[in-house]
Amino acid sequence: MSEPARGPVVIVGAGQAGMQLATGLRQLGSTASITLVGDERCPPYERPPLSKAYLTGELERERLWFRHEQAYARQDVELRLATRAVAIDRAARTVTTAAGEVLPYEYCVLATGARARRLEVPGAELAGIHLLRGLDDADRLRAAIRPGVEVAVVGGGYIGMEIAASLTKLGARVAVIEAAPQVMSRGVAPVVADHVARRHRAEGVRLETGVGVAGFVGDEAVRAVRLADGREVAAELVVVGIGAAVNDELAAAAGLATDGGVPTDACARTADPAIFAIGDVAVQDHAFLGRHVRLESVQNAVDQAKAVARTLATGTPTPMREVPWFWTQQFDMMIQMVGWADAGLEWVLRGETATGAFAAYALADGAIQAVHAVNRGADYALGRRLVRERIRAEPGQLADPAFDPKTLLPARRGR
Ligand code: FAD
Ligand code: NAI
Repeated sequence: MSEPARGPVVIVGAGQAGMQLATGLRQLGSTASITLVGDERCPPYERPPLSKAYLTGELERERLWFRHEQAYARQDVELRLATRAVAIDRAARTVTTAAGEVLPYEYCVLATGARARRLEVPGAELAGIHLLRGLDDADRLRAAIRPGVEVAVVGGGYIGMEIAASLTKLGARVAVIEAAPQVMSRGVAPVVADHVARRHRAEGVRLETGVGVAGFVGDEAVRAVRLADGREVAAELVVVGIGAAVNDELAAAAGLATDGGVPTDACARTADPAIFAIGDVAVQDHAFLGRHVRLESVQNAVDQAKAVARTLATGTPTPMREVPWFWTQQFDMMIQMVGWADAGLEWVLRGETATGAFAAYALADGAIQAVHAVNRGADYALGRRLVRERIRAEPGQLADPAFDPKTLLPARRGR
C-alpha cells in the first residue's frame, strides 16, 4: 500500500492489540471507519492483573478497562461487543459475524489472540478445574477461593507461578506441578528461575517439578491430581496453566496459511495484502530479532498495533522494531526482562540473589542479548538500551560489582 486506508477497517478481536490499533488509528488522524469486533461481553480490558492484583482483590473490576465504552464512541470507533467473527470472505472483502451480519472491509486486522490450553487427561471434565485467560475465568476462580483451600496449579510458567503467589496471599494452600525440571524455565535466566522457586517455597508453596499429570481424581468434583509417577496431590481446586493455544482458526478457514499462528512480514502483513495480523496470533518476521517469532506479551501487542496504525494511517508500511520486554510480579518480586533469551546463553550475575535484588545479563557472541532483573528496575531500564544497541561486554566486567554497565554505552553527543 502507498495510500492511507480510506475504506472500512475491521479489527477482529477487542483485546490488547485490537484496542490499541483502533485508538492508535484515530490518534494518527485516520478518518477511515473503524469497527472493533470482540466476542467478550465487557469493554477491552487488561489481562495482566487477572492473575495478580485483580485475583487478590486489590484491583477493582472497572480499573481493568482500558477506557470506558463511551470513549470509543467519542472517537468514532464502532465497538461490537459479544460479537464473534465467524468467517472472512477474502474475495468479497467481508467479515461475517455469528449473528449473520456482514461487515465490508478495505483492511481487516486479525487480533484474535490466544486461549488457555486445556489438559486432556482422564478426569478433565470434573468440577473444580479452572483455566485463566479472561475476566469471567478470573471471577470464577476468585469466587472459589477461601482460606485453607487446597489448590493444585498445573504448569509452573508465568501464569502458574503468578496464580500460585496470588492464591497463597489469599490463604490457599498451593502445590505447583511442572513437567519441566524447573519452574519458569521458558526464556527466563536460570538464576532468576531458581530464585523464584526458592521464594515460592519460602512462602509455603509446594513445587513438584519434573513430573507430568496422568489425570484428575474425583467423583463429580476434583479431589486430587494423579501425577505421572503414580503419586496423588490432594486438591479441591485445580488451575491449569500449561500454555496458550493460538486463535488462528478464522484465518485458516479463510484460506490463509497458518503455522502455529498467522505468519506475517515485519509490517504485520499476511500473505493477503488486505489482511494484517497483530498480537498473540501473529508469527511475525521480527525486525529486531531477525527471525519469525510468535510473542505473547503486552509490549508486543501494543507495539505491533502502533506500527500497523501508522501503516494504515499514513500509507507507509512501518515495521515494528522494538526489543521484546516482559514482566511478572510474584510475592514481593518484580521481575523485568528485556531481550530474547534462548537456551544456551552465557548468563552473568550482578548483585546477590540473597538480597532479593539482582540482575542477570546474557551474552551472545560478545553482545548483551538479554537482561533479567529482580527488583532492580535500574538494570532493566539500562538493559533496554544495552540490548537495543547490541552493546558488547566482557563477562568479567559485568560480574564486577564495582563496574558500572552504563559506561558501556557510547557517550551521547552534546554531553
Ligand atoms: P487478547 O488480549 O487475548 O485479545 C484477543 C481478543 O480477541 C479476545 O478478547 C478474544 O476473545 C477475541 N477473539 C478471538 N477470536 C475472536 C473472534 N473470532 N471474533 C471476535 N473476537 C475474537 N503479558 C505481559 O506482557 N505481562 C504480563 O504480566 C501478562 N500477564 C498476563 C496474565 C494473564 C492472566 C494472561 C491471560 C495474559 C497475560 N499476559 C501478560 C499476556 C498478554 O495479556 C497478552 O499477550 C495480550 O493480551 C495479547 O493481546 P492480543 O490482543 O493479541 O490478545
Ligand atoms: P507458559 O508456556 O509460560 O508456561 C506453561 C508451563 O506449563 C511450562 O512451564 C510447561 O513446561 C508447563 N507444562 C506444559 N504442559 C504441562 C503438563 N502437562 N503438566 C505440567 N506442566 C506442564 O504458559 P502459561 O504460563 O500458561 O501462560 C499462558 C499465556 O499467558 C501465555 O501467553 C503467557 O505469555 C501469558 N501470561 C504472561 C504473563 C507474563 O508475561 N507475566 C503472566 C501470565 C500469563
